[in-house]
Amino acid sequence: MKREQWRSQIGFLLAAVGSAIGLGNIWRFSYMAYSYGGGAFLIPYLTALFTAGIPLMILEFAIGHERIGSAPLAYKKIHRNWEWLGWWAVIFVMFGIVLYYTVIIAWCLNYFLLSFNLGWGGDPNSFFFQKFLSMSKSPAQIGEIRTPILFSLIVIWFINWVIVFRGVQKGLELANKIFMPLLFVLTAVLVFWALSLDGAAQGIKAYLRPDFKKLANPKVWIDAYSQIFFTLSLGFGIMIAYASYLPEKSNITRNAYLTAFINCGYSLFAGFAVFSVLGFMAKAEGKALSEVVTQSIGLAFVAYPKALSMMPGGNLFGAIFFFCLVVAGISSSVSIIEAFTSALIDKFGMNRKSLVSVISILGFVGSIIFTTQAGLLWLDIVDHFITNYGLVVVGIAECVLAGWLFDIAILQRHVNKVSSIKLGKGWVMLIRFFVPLVLGIMLVGALYNEVQKPYGGYGWAAIALIGVNWIILTILAAVVVAMRPWRTELHKKGGRG
Ligand code: PHE
Repeated sequence: MKREQWRSQIGFLLAAVGSAIGLGNIWRFSYMAYSYGGGAFLIPYLTALFTAGIPLMILEFAIGHERIGSAPLAYKKIHRNWEWLGWWAVIFVMFGIVLYYTVIIAWCLNYFLLSFNLGWGGDPNSFFFQKFLSMSKSPAQIGEIRTPILFSLIVIWFINWVIVFRGVQKGLELANKIFMPLLFVLTAVLVFWALSLDGAAQGIKAYLRPDFKKLANPKVWIDAYSQIFFTLSLGFGIMIAYASYLPEKSNITRNAYLTAFINCGYSLFAGFAVFSVLGFMAKAEGKALSEVVTQSIGLAFVAYPKALSMMPGGNLFGAIFFFCLVVAGISSSVSIIEAFTSALIDKFGMNRKSLVSVISILGFVGSIIFTTQAGLLWLDIVDHFITNYGLVVVGIAECVLAGWLFDIAILQRHVNKVSSIKLGKGWVMLIRFFVPLVLGIMLVGALYNEVQKPYGGYGWAAIALIGVNWIILTILAAVVVAMRPWRTELHKKGGRG
C-alpha cells in the first residue's frame, strides 16, 4: 500500500497552519498579552517561539518526514522500545483533547445560530451558565445531557468524519485550502470592523501598552512557553503525521518557520478584534477596561455576546466571530483525529474509511460526557491536566528520544539535504538540552502548584478520579497497543536519511 501524500506543498502548509490555529489563538493569546505586560509580552513570547517552538516544530517535521511514519511508527523506527510513547501521544489527544475540544466547537455553533437574533438576551452571563449549560454544582452531579449542545455536537463530529474519511488529499488538504483563506478573510473583516468602533483605541492601548516590569515574574515566561507549545499543536504527534505525508523533496525548515509565523501572526492580529470590542464595551458602559476583560470561555460566551448586543450590526459581527471559531476549531480537531487514524493505519494496515467511521462514533460518544450539566467542570479538569502535564511530559520524552537515544545527526543531515534554511549545532543543542530543560521547569512548577491545593477548588477526589485516572488509563492503553504485533511491514523499513 502506498503512503498517502499531499498534492502540494501549500496544501501541507495550510493543513499544518490549520492545526496550529485554533480556539487558543483567538481567545487565549490576546488575554495573555494583555495581562502579561501588553507589547512587552512579545519578548517572552518570541523568545519561546525561537528557542523552543520552532526547533521542536522542525524536529517533529523531521521525525515524520525522515522516518516516514506517524508518531508510533516513527518512534519505533527511532528506538524499538519507544513505540508506546507515540501511542500515548496520539491516544492522549484523541481521547483527551478532541473530546472536549469538539464540544466547545459545538457551543460555538450554537452561538453562531443564536447570534442572528442575539438570542442570549439581556444577561449573557446567566444565559450561558444557567440556561445554556444549566451547569451543576460539582463534577459528580452529571445531571442530564443538554440537547441543543448534543445536536450541534453531532454536526461537528459529522464534519470531522467527512473530512478525515476522505483522506489526505480530498479531505484534509481540500478542507484546509478552503478553511484557511476563508478564516483569514473573515478575521480581517472582524478586525477592521472592530477597529472602527467607538472606544476601540482604548482597548488596543490596553492590549499593547508595554509594561516591562511584568517580565520579572517567572510565571510570565513559563506561560509564554506553554502557550507556544499548545498553539503550535506540538507534542501530540500531529505534525509528525502531517510531515510523513510529504514527498521526498520538501522544504522542511521553511515550512516550519512559515507555519509558526503564520500562526503567531494570526494570534496577534486577531487580538485587535478582541480588544477593540472590549474597548468599545468599556466605553459604552462607562467602565474601566479591566472590568470588562475576561479570557477564554468567559470572553467568547459572556463578554462578547454582551458587547454584540450593544453594537450596531452586532448580530452579523457575532455570526462571523462564532463562525471563525468553528472553522478554526474544526481545522484543529481533524488534525488530532488524523494523527490517531494514521497511527492505526500504519500499524494494523486498516482501511481508512471504516476505521475513521468507528473512531468518529467512539469520539462522538466519548464527547457526550462534556455535553452534560457537569460538562464545563469536567472539561476544565481534563484540560488542566492535559495541557499542564501531558503535553510537557511527551515533549520532554520526544527530545530525549531524538536527542539522546538516537543519532540526531541523521535527522539534521536529512533536513539540511532537503531544506533551504540549514540547521546548525544550535538546533541540536536546543533539542538536547534547552527544550527539555524548559519543559522540565514547567513540569516542576505545575506539580508544585498542584500539591499546594486541589486545582480549581474541585476537591481531591474529583481531581484524582478524572484527571489522574485519565493519564494512567491512556498510558496503559498506549502500552497495550504498542505490544500488539505489527500487521504491516512498515516498521522494518528504514528512514530517508
Ligand atoms: N493549536 C490549537 C489551538 O491553539 C490547539 C491544539 C492543541 C490542537 C493540540 C491540536 C492539538 O487552539
